[in-house]
Amino acid sequence: MLYNDPSPLETKVLTRRFGMANSASIETYLATDGYVAFRKAAGMKPEEIIEEMKASNLRGRGGAGFPAGMKWSFVPRTSPKPKYIVVNADESEPGTCKDRVLIENDPHQLIEGVLIAGLAVDAHAGYIYVRGEYRYLIEILDKAIAEAYEKGWLGKNIQGTGFDFDLYTHTGAGAYECGEESALLESLEGKRGIPRIRPPFPAVVGAFQCPTVLNNVETYCAAPAILRDGGAAYAALGVPKAGGTKMTCLTGHVNKPGVYELKLGFPVKQMIEEVGGGIRLGRKLKAFIPGGSSCPVLTAQEVEGATMDYDSMAQRKTMLGSGGVIVMDDQTCMVKAALRIMRFYAHESCGWCIPCREGTTWLKKILERFHGGGGTVADINLIGDIARNMLGRTFCPLGDAAALPTISIVEKFRHEFEDHLNGKPCPYEHVSQAVTV
Ligand SMILES: Cc1cc2nc3c(=O)[nH]c(=O)nc-3n(C[C@H](O)[C@H](O)[C@H](O)COP(=O)(O)O)c2cc1C
Repeated sequence: MLYNDPSPLETKVLTRRFGMANSASIETYLATDGYVAFRKAAGMKPEEIIEEMKASNLRGRGGAGFPAGMKWSFVPRTSPKPKYIVVNADESEPGTCKDRVLIENDPHQLIEGVLIAGLAVDAHAGYIYVRGEYRYLIEILDKAIAEAYEKGWLGKNIQGTGFDFDLYTHTGAGAYECGEESALLESLEGKRGIPRIRPPFPAVVGAFQCPTVLNNVETYCAAPAILRDGGAAYAALGVPKAGGTKMTCLTGHVNKPGVYELKLGFPVKQMIEEVGGGIRLGRKLKAFIPGGSSCPVLTAQEVEGATMDYDSMAQRKTMLGSGGVIVMDDQTCMVKAALRIMRFYAHESCGWCIPCREGTTWLKKILERFHGGGGTVADINLIGDIARNMLGRTFCPLGDAAALPTISIVEKFRHEFEDHLNGKPCPYEHVSQAVTV
């Protein structure tokens, strides 16, 4: 149930029970300060819980990085409608594999985070929406939920606090699009998983047309530590505008890939060299994706001085995203990398918006032909043009997610596209296993 050998450079807040015997059991959880934060929160006013979340500077860990406390504050608590807590455990972004280890190793931490959110917005029911391929996690979650009911941490009048809460698991069917919050809600309601028009946002009109807090697994998992130790203590772990640690999935051409919990602001070079054990076979860095395949790619030069946080990545015109780091060494074919990424998006486009459905498929076909040696000079500009025309023209950001890495690869690695011209097959063919999508 471990995710890799822990690194001494980690700051273990969300992962502090990882590696303990029976870390997923309620006995282990209760013996290690489990549900202490819930008890504390139950004695606080909802506004005080939200203030603590705001003080923590916790930003949503699903990709967009929206401040969690602020999101919770948007829920109209006095609305006569029921309110819901929804957990996004769809985790389909290539490069990202952190939510699953949080659930595998410590499911009660997630349940406690959900309960805290419930107290904060006066919700009494929640759903954990789990990626279709993660069926084994449903068993772990259902077992933990049953334990929590049995020991009085879910259900009616939880631990005599007067607070009622019911929690359910719900499985997706393996569609990336159902990780997008509004498509997730459609799917949860039993409909086809396509995005909704926003506004209204889920905080006001979410699950079953009712006010809903929808966050990523890692975001909820941070709530117990925030309530237990205080928002300020959590904030102090990170950088000024983003508190805490980040579950970082170090994938690609490093010697020690794995999921590591690192303080926000951790230097990228140190992460690759010391946490990841350096680039395999002693090779050099060619390209770096900080937060899953939706993010613009950085060159080795751009990585100089970069730190793993929202601002540092924004300064470099990319994103921290979900923390799905993909490291590519100097023998990676960047045309192939663009192709692999686009194969994923063309397969996963839900087909609802034409620029995304057609754009991803056209790009996949052109990149396939190009990589196979059948490209032309005009194709290089065409790839960039199609991708730019998709940007901002779809109901949900899947179109942007496909376009952004493509644009960055064409702009920053144009010479590699030129290397494929004149009927030559890929000059880097023997390499590129970095982007495993
Ligand atoms: C195509 C697409 C797929 C997404 N997949 C996920 C996912 O698997 N997990 C996730 O937490 N967020 C995913 N998101 C982001 C969610 O829409 C949403 O912003 C997030 O769950 C909010 O939680 P947070 O504020 O805690 O980050 C995806 C977004 C898009 C556009």
